[in-house]
Amino acid sequence: MVSRIIPVDPFDIVIFGGTGDLARRKILPALFKRFCDGQMPGESRIIGAARTEFDVQGYRAFVREAVIENCSGRLCETDNLAAFLERLHYVTLDARGEKGWDDLTTLMQTTCIRAFYFSVGPSLFGDLAERLHRHNLTDEDSRIVVEKPFGRDLETAARLNRVLASHFNEGQIYRIDHYLGKETVQNLMAVRFGNMLFEPLWNSQYVDHIQITVAEEVGVAGRGAYYEKSGAMRDMVQNHLMQLLCLIAMEPPAKFEPDAVRDEKLKVIRALEPVDPHHIVRGQYAIGDDVPSYREDVDNSRSKTESFIALRCHVTNWRWAGTPFYLRTGKRLKARDSQITVVFKDAPHSIFGPEAGRHHNELTIQLQPDEGITLCVTIKEPGPGGMRLVDVPLDMSFAEALGPDADAPDAYERLIMDVIRGNQTLFMRNDEVEAAWAWTDPIIKGWEARSDVPKPYDAFSTGPDDAKLLIRRDRREWRGIGA
Ligand code: BG6
Repeated sequence: MVSRIIPVDPFDIVIFGGTGDLARRKILPALFKRFCDGQMPGESRIIGAARTEFDVQGYRAFVREAVIENCSGRLCETDNLAAFLERLHYVTLDARGEKGWDDLTTLMQTTCIRAFYFSVGPSLFGDLAERLHRHNLTDEDSRIVVEKPFGRDLETAARLNRVLASHFNEGQIYRIDHYLGKETVQNLMAVRFGNMLFEPLWNSQYVDHIQITVAEEVGVAGRGAYYEKSGAMRDMVQNHLMQLLCLIAMEPPAKFEPDAVRDEKLKVIRALEPVDPHHIVRGQYAIGDDVPSYREDVDNSRSKTESFIALRCHVTNWRWAGTPFYLRTGKRLKARDSQITVVFKDAPHSIFGPEAGRHHNELTIQLQPDEGITLCVTIKEPGPGGMRLVDVPLDMSFAEALGPDADAPDAYERLIMDVIRGNQTLFMRNDEVEAAWAWTDPIIKGWEARSDVPKPYDAFSTGPDDAKLLIRRDRREWRGIGA
């Protein structure tokens, strides 16, 4: 399969936090891969900006290592890497002081698209926006990219939105949720809105319930300080799982255009009912065979932060009234496994009699690690001896169907190029982020008010037993993790 490269105009991208972990693991490798595919035209440049004292050569050596560590050897062994490093510049800069801003201004004399990537903590967003403005580094065509966490509740998110809005139009602000850049997540929309097959059945009349699971095998080691203040609800549910829920539940937008898509997602979030506290299970991983417990990882023996969440929620609109959505995410689970399963209702009447059993269809969209779609259908069990029915999967692995070249690009490659193209479809709008917090806040405040302590669960299990009870009470079962 030949991948089609959509040309972009020359650009300068400034990475504030250019020596940080995200820049090293994701942003710089993504830019390198786009460079290799010919998507850094002309004199496009990458300008790292951070407090670390580096000269250009020092920064290039840093980036070289980051790229080698995070990209395939095949790409790095070519002349591409040396040519890519030539595009890199660096400014030692203080986001809160004056140091470095004149150097940055001198460096940016060219006229091309300017993107400013705020790969720093949200407490610096305001300072950066204000200084960019004061130093005349932006015009109405410049863009800023901001990372999560976008606030820690509705109030802080709204404040951030106001700060950014005082210097930039909403059309210039790109709030990243990297899940939206994942190829398979975009495929959700393709499957739903590109096929006639599913849409007529995509409602509470035919769908019994929907499960969304994002399971991780890793713990929080290395990010303990951040995670301890965040927990699974803020780290994963408010953003990534919420986005998946939106894409599964939303009405078809009239066009695949930024506001058309985001309007529909917003309607889903606003239609979410407040969650009954009895319909949420929080968990925290306990010590495992060779791995520390969550509390050891964050060095807090009394931590009440959750590393696991399972909850049941409802989208109260015409399409979904009565269909529960079960969401589950956690760290140190059995396997890395993200999937969405749409479980259809049982056939209303079995013409084969009670001994044929009850059967239903299931559509599973596997997001990672092995992307694909499985549709479970009911057929006759082969052989003589009556009409016995059995459910079998119709499997489609994308790698098999599309060939080995269908290597999914990293989410950041897609998203950064969308910033350069000026396409906000896969970025969150201010009202969307605030609506997501408005739904999340009361849940978190409820735990705080009750001093809720998460249930311990074994490392590499499927989470606390209460999560199983949550769904079993409704006579349903979670789909396996890593099955
Ligand atoms: C990040 C979270 O946004 O997403 C991490 O902060 C989590 O805690 C990560 O591990 C998961 O992303 P992915 O792409 O590995 O599923």
